[in-house]
Amino acid sequence: MSVTIVLGSQWGDEGKGKIVDLLSQSADMVARYQGGANAGHTIVFRGKQHILHLIPSGILNPEVVCLIGNGVVIDPEAFVKELNELHAHGIDTNGRLFISSRAQIILPYHKIIDKALESANTIKAIGTTGRGIGPAYVDKASRIGIRMIDLLNEKSLENKIKDNLEHYNCEFTKVLNIDTLNFDSMFEEFMANVNIMKPFIADTALMISKAMKAGKKIIVEGAQGALLDVDHGTYPFVTSSNPTAGGACTGLGIPPNSFDKIIAVVKAYCTRVGNGPFPTEQINSIGERLRATGSEFGATTGRPRRCGWLDLFVLKYSTMINGFTDIALTKLDVLNDFEEIKICSGYKTGGEIIESYPTSSEEFSAIEPEYITMKGWMKSLSGIRTLEALPNETREYLSKIEEISQVKISYISLSPDREDTIII
Ligand code: GDP
Ligand code: IMO
Ligand code: MG
Repeated sequence: MSVTIVLGSQWGDEGKGKIVDLLSQSADMVARYQGGANAGHTIVFRGKQHILHLIPSGILNPEVVCLIGNGVVIDPEAFVKELNELHAHGIDTNGRLFISSRAQIILPYHKIIDKALESANTIKAIGTTGRGIGPAYVDKASRIGIRMIDLLNEKSLENKIKDNLEHYNCEFTKVLNIDTLNFDSMFEEFMANVNIMKPFIADTALMISKAMKAGKKIIVEGAQGALLDVDHGTYPFVTSSNPTAGGACTGLGIPPNSFDKIIAVVKAYCTRVGNGPFPTEQINSIGERLRATGSEFGATTGRPRRCGWLDLFVLKYSTMINGFTDIALTKLDVLNDFEEIKICSGYKTGGEIIESYPTSSEEFSAIEPEYITMKGWMKSLSGIRTLEALPNETREYLSKIEEISQVKISYISLSPDREDTIII
């Protein structure tokens, strides 16, 4: 049995796509466990860029079976679009891509509510991706959600969606003051995508269980990041699922004792898209430099990402929740030209270092990040393939990360390309 989870340790966009694709080269199966098309996972291989939103990042390896687990919320329109894009790039998905029969479906009304709530609540806006994620998970928890299995019975599917739309149209007019949706045209468009999706429905939990028993190598791919977790993240500025390691058990139906590696994808600095606390954010020329050098613009929405220094209190907290065994450090090359690099080692409140990660906006507004200043290496790391060949200053930066997080760095990524990685 060999199951490795790869998940974001910060606020998403750490480079999970690149790391999952790299590890997929020697894997049999890759499975997504939560989130939906709010994710944007970028893979660059031989100069070609692929951005995946719903389909697991293992899909570029033709030998890998890809599963979308029950914890994922599926937007049929996004799924079909992504499938067509992969086919246009010559990637064959036939017989190796499956969606859980228990996965929930995003309907057009979920996207409308998501956007309407964000624009009606400008003060409290989360800055969501507008992909209908929150409202779809609301329906799941309210037990009125439509699941993949429902696609197989058109008459009852029609009735369920009609009932839900009646409820939502009422909310549209009476609460949100927006136009209602017409059932017939919405359903007709929906069914066109549904018919494409039907052959992908499978019992993915059973498939993983069989693969584990057969000794296959399985990679479990997280979306978003630990600090965007609905329970452990910077609530309410979070997504509506559990990107943390526990979410992989519920989101795929894998027992908790299955995992032998839990890899934290850690960006060498920090970014965040959308609103919410970000203690090490640099709203200055440093932040602008990080954004420009790291091309920090959202892979899903194109929004500029907020940028700041690496926050090791976040990583320590994230390690506590996820039990990381390894770190995949990404985008180290982005720091190449910085004379000085800061690392946040902890937060102080009232002059005292705090132990508990802040929970409320009041706690966040009272904290002061503590920084360690490191000397930059001021040279390109291009082409380096061993730890020993890295400049001393770079190795000191890596040691500091390992010392404070107490997790070993096993992968160092030096460019978007699959090949440009040091494997330790
Ligand atoms: P994900 O959501 O965690 O998969 O990350 P994204 O794909 O949203 O964002 C990461 C971005 O950084 C993508 O554009 C990647 O191609 C790029 N990237 C990944 N690793 C590296 C790296 O080591 N160096 C540089 N310069 N870019 C990287
Ligand atoms: P990947 O997998 C970064 C953020 C949104 C917003 C909050 C809630 O590419 O790392 P949602 O649409 O989920 O209801 O938005 O979460 N967010 C992400 N930020 N990377 C992501 O995914 C994200 N998915 C959602 O910007 O702040
Ligand atoms: Mg992303």
